[in-house]
Amino acid sequence: MTMYNLKLFPQHIPAHQIRNDTWHLGDVHGQYSYSNPHADLYQYLSQWSDMESYLNVGYSRPGQYHLHTSSHKRLINRLAHGLLDLHAQSVHAGDRHLLDVASGRGGAAVYARQRHGLTVTGVDITPYNAQRATHNAQQKQVWPQVRFNMGSADLLPFADNSFSLIWSIESPAHFPNKPAFLSEVSRVLKHGGCFTFADLLAVEKVVNASDENRQIYDRFIEMWDVPYLETVDSYRHILGETGLRLQRLEIVTEYNLDILNRDCGLFLWLSKSKWLYNQYKKFLKQRTGANLDNVYEHVLASYNALNIGMIDYGLFWLTRE
Ligand SMILES: C[S@@+](CC[C@H](N)C(=O)[O-])C[C@H]1O[C@@H](n2cnc3c(N)ncnc32)[C@H](O)[C@@H]1O
Repeated sequence: MTMYNLKLFPQHIPAHQIRNDTWHLGDVHGQYSYSNPHADLYQYLSQWSDMESYLNVGYSRPGQYHLHTSSHKRLINRLAHGLLDLHAQSVHAGDRHLLDVASGRGGAAVYARQRHGLTVTGVDITPYNAQRATHNAQQKQVWPQVRFNMGSADLLPFADNSFSLIWSIESPAHFPNKPAFLSEVSRVLKHGGCFTFADLLAVEKVVNASDENRQIYDRFIEMWDVPYLETVDSYRHILGETGLRLQRLEIVTEYNLDILNRDCGLFLWLSKSKWLYNQYKKFLKQRTGANLDNVYEHVLASYNALNIGMIDYGLFWLTRE
């Protein structure tokens, strides 16, 4: 009798169509409200960075220290400078009101006020983050010029043509319907308005290169509570249908995800010593409340994907036609 190997090479599915079937919005809430094991990573990172304000991977050039609040601010500035350059040439140049879609714990919005003098309205779907953001704005004495609402990116609670500036920083990855998000941005953005966003992108040829890569990819999106990721090409396609014109796109993986990958590699290497791992596990629990085993799983899944160039990090700047 002939025996067939049933574990076949996966059918080639465009990366942006590969879905995390177990994804649920409650997982996103859990990750950002300390009620899901994936939140332990943020507690771990809070030893170096202000994770109660900033939830993005940052941006650092060679020689700049990365695991620090300054790297979050560099990413925000990178987006803000491109956005404000476009804005300076627009008919709305005098309007300094920014909408921050998925504003997290408010660090970026507060910084937009302090550094760039913008008035900011933020929306986020996670109650913990919206409350924390309001608390941060009040503490930094920028409230009510910087204020936050609860809201969903694919159903923005604003009238048509409300804003001349919009950004969304490292959040679209979590949105289950990115075309709906972009069409909402297009709806609430004034004609001639400017928009920027940062997002994780799947690298099509790496994701689909082998059965093993597909498993690594599935694990990565599961760990980050991501329903699916777009690719550069799928984003270009959607944008062509929204009335948003792409002015500039930069892949900046070497300035953030490659650094994260290096740090993940170091963490995994150090974890090989059982003695060191167990000592650090006790210390971490006491210091931050995080469970090192959960951090380990997160780091391993991230390293496996990042180390083979499966995920890119893109910055997009657009204008509304
Ligand atoms: C990685 S954090 C980034 C937060 C912030 N932009 C920053 O840079 O610090 C992602 C944020 O997206 C929010 N989020 C996820 N899905 C959302 C949705 N459908 N609508 C609005 N916010 C969402 C989460 O609650 C979380 O605050």
